[in-house]
Amino acid sequence: MNQRIQHDGVLILGAGLAGLTAALAAAPRRVLLLSPTPLGEGCSSAWAQGGMAAALADEDSPALHARDTIAAGAGLCDPEAVAVLTGEGPDAVRALADLGAPFDRTEDGGFSQGLEAAHSLARVARVGGDGAGRAIHEAVVTAALAAPHIEIRTGLRARSLLQDAAGRVRGALVEDDAGALTEIVAAATLLATGGLGGLYAVTTTPREVRGEGLGLAALAGAVIADPEFVQFHPTAIDIGADPAPLATEALRGEGAILRDQTGRAFMTAYHPAAELAPRDVVARAIQSEQLAGRGAFLDATQAIGEAFPHEFPAVFAACQAAGLDPRIQPIPVTPACHYHMGGIATDLDGRTSLPGLLAAGECASTGVHGANRLASNSLLEAAVFGARAGAVLRDAVAPVTEPLPAVPWPDLPGGALAGLRQAMSHQAGVVRDGAGLTDLLARIETLRELHGEGPVLTAARLVVACALERRESRGGHFRRDYPGAQPARRTFITLAGLDARKVAAE
Ligand code: SIN
Repeated sequence: MNQRIQHDGVLILGAGLAGLTAALAAAPRRVLLLSPTPLGEGCSSAWAQGGMAAALADEDSPALHARDTIAAGAGLCDPEAVAVLTGEGPDAVRALADLGAPFDRTEDGGFSQGLEAAHSLARVARVGGDGAGRAIHEAVVTAALAAPHIEIRTGLRARSLLQDAAGRVRGALVEDDAGALTEIVAAATLLATGGLGGLYAVTTTPREVRGEGLGLAALAGAVIADPEFVQFHPTAIDIGADPAPLATEALRGEGAILRDQTGRAFMTAYHPAAELAPRDVVARAIQSEQLAGRGAFLDATQAIGEAFPHEFPAVFAACQAAGLDPRIQPIPVTPACHYHMGGIATDLDGRTSLPGLLAAGECASTGVHGANRLASNSLLEAAVFGARAGAVLRDAVAPVTEPLPAVPWPDLPGGALAGLRQAMSHQAGVVRDGAGLTDLLARIETLRELHGEGPVLTAARLVVACALERRESRGGHFRRDYPGAQPARRTFITLAGLDARKVAAE
């Protein structure tokens, strides 16, 4: 029999920007917020280098920001969700500044904003050049630690969602570092567990982020949206590190050039916008150059040069740790899994298809990113939709039903996970095809038979099965066997639906 805690408030799983913002917005409702890792570790939002895109400048507007977001999303954005994101964006940035996030400022006290790919003007509010994620996260952690309504516990990992007989989510079964299991029952549960970069061998995200929230929700019966859409950042630093350090897109915004090993600038051969082409185009161009044996390097020696340590301290430190000096040397780069556009389907306030369960941040799919996320829209989404979900949590009514007994889903052993990560990078990566995806799906089936299906395998299965079903190329999903686009459609799927399709195909 597991130990049980009957909490008198709401439960939040995840201590990134979305979870913490939701916790603050839920005041005065009591919040229990759990994180598997120490605060600031294991969450992608604290690693973000770019910043927050928002229409803060006089010459900008939410409508212009929405237009760029929808253009990047390649036909799959939900315009209503985009209008919320871009309309509430400026206030979300100002709210974080009020909490103490030290955004870079212009001389007259406005927000200093940089240019990133596929934005029609400089719109990205930054902190210390490339330190936005850490600084914003620190400000929100400080506020959450000081808030009397929030209790934060680390070292606790969700192993299953608790549900009552009608399927309503009633909390979570969590495991501590010593393996002890506790059922935490609460009025409502918010998943803010991040993306799935750790499912890929080459990723810019923390390794711990492996799609668990997505998998837990899917295993509980939630509708999942667009799982096949994974974004690969073109310029992870290629030094064989796991995870791979990021060389922010802002470097290209400042004029850094992509070259092959002979020094040839190659991006103009792939897209008229060259280095500022959409992320998926740049990622495929780099992969093509690598496969042709020419290599890919980001040359910031002219555009940034001596200013590098001051303007991009995080990238500079990563280069230095690898024995590279980006002031005088081009940086070797490679595409890496960076962001999951798909996720647990939510409405505009974070509600999922399961009563009692909400989701926010990267594990959610609000519909704002479509097939390809616009740069620096992810911290913004976490802040805007985290706050909206927090308002729902504040008013959540505690149900009278009891949760059914829960058992932890099986874990994937380390060796099996390592093999899966390699296969995901090769067969469900920047360029996909039917043969590779079919082979990968068979591998996932074998792992299910050997180890049982847990949330990590579920997340991988959703990505791969839906990538196989999407016989077209769009945004972050490129099929070499189907390079053209079909009429736009979003994917909405449950595990039961996926299994039914499998049976029908057999
Ligand atoms: C970057 O700094 O290049 C990443 C920004 C983002 O993913 O939005």
